[in-house]
Amino acid sequence: MKAIRAAFLDFVGDPFFVPESESVRYIPDGLLVIDQGKVKDFGTFETLQEKYAGVAIASHEGKLILPGFIDIHVHYPQAEMIAAYGEQLLAWLNKYTFPTEKKFHDKDYARQIASFFLDELLRNGTTTAVVLTTIFPSSVDALFEEAQRRNMRIVAGQMLMTRNAPDFLINDAQTAYTQTREQIQKWHGNGRSLYAITPRFAITSTDEELTLAGKLKAEFPDVYVHTHLSENPQEIEFTAKLFPNSTDYLNVYEQFGLVGDRSIFAHCIHLDESAFERLSKAGAAIAFCPTSNLFLGSGLFKLGKAKSDYGIKVGLATDVGAGTSFSMLQTMSDGYKVAQLQAESLSPFKAFYLATLGAAQAIYLEDKLGSFDIGKEADFVVLDMQATPLMALRNRGGIPQDLETLAEQIFATMILGDDRAIAATYIAGECM
Ligand code: GUN
Ligand code: ZN
Repeated sequence: MKAIRAAFLDFVGDPFFVPESESVRYIPDGLLVIDQGKVKDFGTFETLQEKYAGVAIASHEGKLILPGFIDIHVHYPQAEMIAAYGEQLLAWLNKYTFPTEKKFHDKDYARQIASFFLDELLRNGTTTAVVLTTIFPSSVDALFEEAQRRNMRIVAGQMLMTRNAPDFLINDAQTAYTQTREQIQKWHGNGRSLYAITPRFAITSTDEELTLAGKLKAEFPDVYVHTHLSENPQEIEFTAKLFPNSTDYLNVYEQFGLVGDRSIFAHCIHLDESAFERLSKAGAAIAFCPTSNLFLGSGLFKLGKAKSDYGIKVGLATDVGAGTSFSMLQTMSDGYKVAQLQAESLSPFKAFYLATLGAAQAIYLEDKLGSFDIGKEADFVVLDMQATPLMALRNRGGIPQDLETLAEQIFATMILGDDRAIAATYIAGECM
């Protein structure tokens, strides 16, 4: 058993629906007690100090501890092609992405990049991610093996692609089905690993492949479905041509039984009211990827509509390599600007919620992750809100004592902060 003393912030409700005074839990001087990788107790230092008098306490004085960030959509093979110039989605895929993903045929190479990728997540305070791979089964094995070496809870799956891509990234639908089936049996629920059936997007799958993906989801209902939806106008137009019997883009996935709980759709920028309504009813989640949506010029996600009007589950995501940073703080910062461009304000508490408990709920892991409730897994991040000279100037006065000051300081931290603001990242109670 061990304990950590610091200031703690997490959520006990959804600040999009419950007033922040009731949904935010802030303890300026708290104690987190950890046993066997899980939260054993949590509260103010004052109330818990006697009960745990014999337990070794590590202090992070002057720092703010939050549940580990959860990035619900990110491509590990694209780490090395981040910041690729000049194109929107379809040209960007052809010019930069597909040639890069080809390299992951080589398992040693895949392992090297998977290792870099997971360390980069940890450097940025991200403890769980929903990750896209490539069509090569060994690229999936490399990621899960490296994740298990770090004891990280990772959701991932083999990318399914059968058309509209170069030959070297095309698989046969039946082969991909067999490989995915084997991967599910090998990885889903193995340690902290979880599996996602991952058609890249409608454009790169045939009807046969999506039928087989739906069959897998029916066979393994607690496995995830993870894909892209309605990101770019040319993409949407091409999809409509390829699937003339669908009423809209979402309906392609609906027709094959791929829209339900544990379905995660990245982007969802150009959806109409009907699609929002159907996503909500299905219990599906949206990955909001602001740095990517700005970088590729894809458009502005309607966060207020998705969350407040339709109650859809939304989590924040980097979408590296179209996204421009591994930092969830930088992602919140761009999320704020995307809201500003639509005359909405994304409050700092809402932004941090979307990267912690809200993301955990989006991926149906709120019983295990996302807050400091007793029994949850002890994945957390230690924030230094004075990490740079400018942040120290802006956040003068030490650890806040009230919610108003806290809101100001975490807002400045999400706007100004990046990996430099991550003092430490803990996985299952161990400092990484
Ligand atoms: N749609 C299909 N594949 C991709 C991808 O790799 N990145 C993004 N941003 N969108 C996609
Ligand atoms: Zn993506």
